[in-house]
Amino acid sequence: EKGEYRHFMEKEIHEQPDSVQHTLSEYLDLVTAKAKPAVVDFAAIERIQIIACGTAFYAGQIGKYAFEKYAGLPCDVEIASEFRYRDPALSQGTLAVAVSQSGETADTLAGLSWCKAQGLKTAAVVNVHTSSMAREAEILWPTHAGPEIGVASTKAFTAQVAALLSLAIAAGVARGKIDEAREAELVKALFEAPRLISEALRMDAPIRNLVQDLAKARDVLFLGRGPMYPLAMEGALKLKEISYIHAEGYAAGELKHGPIALIDEYTPTIALAPMDDLFEKTSSNLQEVAARGGPVIMIAPESAPDPHGAGIRRVHAPDAHPIAAPLVYAVPMQLVSYYTAVQKGTDVDQPRNLAKSVTVE
Ligand code: M6R
Repeated sequence: EKGEYRHFMEKEIHEQPDSVQHTLSEYLDLVTAKAKPAVVDFAAIERIQIIACGTAFYAGQIGKYAFEKYAGLPCDVEIASEFRYRDPALSQGTLAVAVSQSGETADTLAGLSWCKAQGLKTAAVVNVHTSSMAREAEILWPTHAGPEIGVASTKAFTAQVAALLSLAIAAGVARGKIDEAREAELVKALFEAPRLISEALRMDAPIRNLVQDLAKARDVLFLGRGPMYPLAMEGALKLKEISYIHAEGYAAGELKHGPIALIDEYTPTIALAPMDDLFEKTSSNLQEVAARGGPVIMIAPESAPDPHGAGIRRVHAPDAHPIAAPLVYAVPMQLVSYYTAVQKGTDVDQPRNLAKSVTVE
């Protein structure tokens, strides 16, 4: 039941401190500040191939950045509907990982079965632990988001991200890329995420002040660098799904290669800009947008320097360790789409034309 909330989506957004905590605890031990031993020997794996659709695909991309950064483990991510029909060339040292909330998405399941038939090792990061994918894969990597009712995925997404980030730490340890001190730092940083997510939920007031303008927009651009790039695409998907506003997520560095042509005073840009080594670069991209008259909303910590440029509005997000930032910044991005949809009066939990689980291709 929805309880005090207007929509399941709102309730599910607010459940994220718990769902992330539960999922992290599946893979990490806060007491010892260590990753729990993984069922798979990450040292013996040459490459990871993630297969997923929609929101799970963006979670997979965040996972890719983490597996490569923290474990030096090459990782590819592909949309399942392409993967299953294009005769991919995979070496026998590949671990195929399906990522899915439902565990029933037809294309993802078919991609997973194809990998299994090729003799590859298979794993499934799924939220429904009795689903077809959970049964088909050799290894079950559960997320603990609990039942997700809203068609637009929120808590299942952050649970997928939490699982993949945790597994990346385990892989880094197994492959000798992470020493004990670094392992402890990363594990503790991830366990900070539930508290920071609670803090980020308090961004609802400033975000509500923006949606009057956003709800009028025809197109919205989301920008980010590093793991904020897949998160920008997830933000765009969320806005499209529930508010029916056309939105695109772009890597901030791609701006000059095309999308900057879209910028005018009616096209808002939302930037996810945590304080990391890429902050300055994202900030200068935002100045470029503002200089062309585009309204900019910059989601960044209060401590981050102000980019020069009129028209840049700031929404303060909690400071987060880089490994936890995707979990924390997911919240303002979800709140932006949620409140924009509420402002427009669309059916938030049952958006037109969409099904919760796509079991036909
Ligand atoms: O159940 P799955 O995670 O496999 O579903 C994949 C997509 O259909 C799903 O994430 C979809 O994109 C959502 N509506 C996103 O909010």
